[in-house]
Amino acid sequence: MKIPGAILWEPGTRSGWSVEEIELDPPKFREATVKLAASGICHSDDHLDTGDIPLGWAPILGGHEGAGVVTEVGEGVTDLEVGDHVVLSFLPSCGHCRMCVSGRSNMCDLGAGVLAGRAPDGTHRIHARGQGVGAMSYLGTFAPYVTVPVDAIVKIDKDIPLDKAALIGCGVPTGWGSSVYAAEMQLGDTVVIFGVGGVGMNAVQGARHRGAKNIIAVDPEPYKREMAPKFGATHTAADAEEAAKLVADMTNGQGADRVIVTVGVAYGDIIEPAQAMTRRGGTLVLTSAAPVTQRDVKIDLFTFAMSGKRLQGTLYGTTNSRTDIPLLTDLYRRGQLNLDDLITRTYDLEDINTAFDDLREGKNIRGVIIYPN
Ligand SMILES: NC(=O)c1ccc[n+]([C@@H]2O[C@H](COP(=O)([O-])OP(=O)(O)OC[C@H]3O[C@@H](n4cnc5c(N)ncnc54)[C@H](O)[C@@H]3O)[C@@H](O)[C@H]2O)c1
Ligand SMILES: [Zn+2]
Ligand SMILES: [Zn+2]
Repeated sequence: MKIPGAILWEPGTRSGWSVEEIELDPPKFREATVKLAASGICHSDDHLDTGDIPLGWAPILGGHEGAGVVTEVGEGVTDLEVGDHVVLSFLPSCGHCRMCVSGRSNMCDLGAGVLAGRAPDGTHRIHARGQGVGAMSYLGTFAPYVTVPVDAIVKIDKDIPLDKAALIGCGVPTGWGSSVYAAEMQLGDTVVIFGVGGVGMNAVQGARHRGAKNIIAVDPEPYKREMAPKFGATHTAADAEEAAKLVADMTNGQGADRVIVTVGVAYGDIIEPAQAMTRRGGTLVLTSAAPVTQRDVKIDLFTFAMSGKRLQGTLYGTTNSRTDIPLLTDLYRRGQLNLDDLITRTYDLEDINTAFDDLREGKNIRGVIIYPN
């Protein structure tokens, strides 16, 4: 079918997204076509445009945070039918690789191909200007329809509004899981969260969910600090220095139990102040993507080792999409997860470059593209 889509023809050059006609193929074996209700604007797509995540190939249809309704299923699809409501998972889960069967489906073998630009069978589902177009995370949600592997599709109940559900494809589980699973948040903890955008605000919610006592949201943008208490932040700070003072006061100089880094772009110099405010035996979680050329990290190694701290990376907040996506929809239904206030502005697909300008200027918790019914 012919539909509009937002493509980067020259990733890494900050040339922005070109909205133009694309041709989307019908589903092949174990694939389905989904009519999207909405797509979130996650910082990870911006990394493709800036080159922080270099692709080495082009063109790419962006977008990896979406939800919608199944319109067609391919051969071999037994677990989905037309009309099902679904969230697309930005990391697929095959269900039978070593990582999947050991409860780490965020690191499924299929994840190796999410930035390779082709469907798992090595072919393209999207075409434009007479050539194949890759899709971000096998998805490409910057178009009103997607044809994707069933391994990236998670069925949800029909009472969950699909525009809100879209955020459960990346930002919500990544942030929430960074607190709940990666940081192993405990009741009564003092936690610092660096960067409270679409991902970090959900780390705040995860900390609240686990009963953290003090939740300090650090962000240079005043708007983010204003919004953070809505999601459970008990304190805010504009920078690391201000946060360190708060932590010292709250913990009698002991340090924060957990520190989580969810800033837009991670550079090596964020680690030292973050580890310095982590208590002995505490955990520092790095969720943010760094530019792939970022190899130098400043850290007081002696203190880090001798105080038994842990530096923990996390992909998708260490969640398992098939169990955590339905869980998060249920928490929303019960009023224990705020999705409504995450969406601060909506856009038409044609205005996608404005949406990314707004992301860079810190104007949104999450900007969301809404597709016509
Ligand atoms: N690990 C994963 O699986 C995964 C998944 C999704 C996104 N990400 C990454 O998470 C990061 C956050 O994504 P997002 O969509 O929330 O971005 P965002 O732009 O919505 O939010 C980032 C926030 O960080 C703030 N910030 C920037 N520099 C800061 C600093 N030095 N100290 C404190 N705050 C600072 C910004 O003001 C902004 O509010 C990105 O790097 C993204 O690529 C990782
Ligand atoms: Zn994302
Ligand atoms: Zn797998």
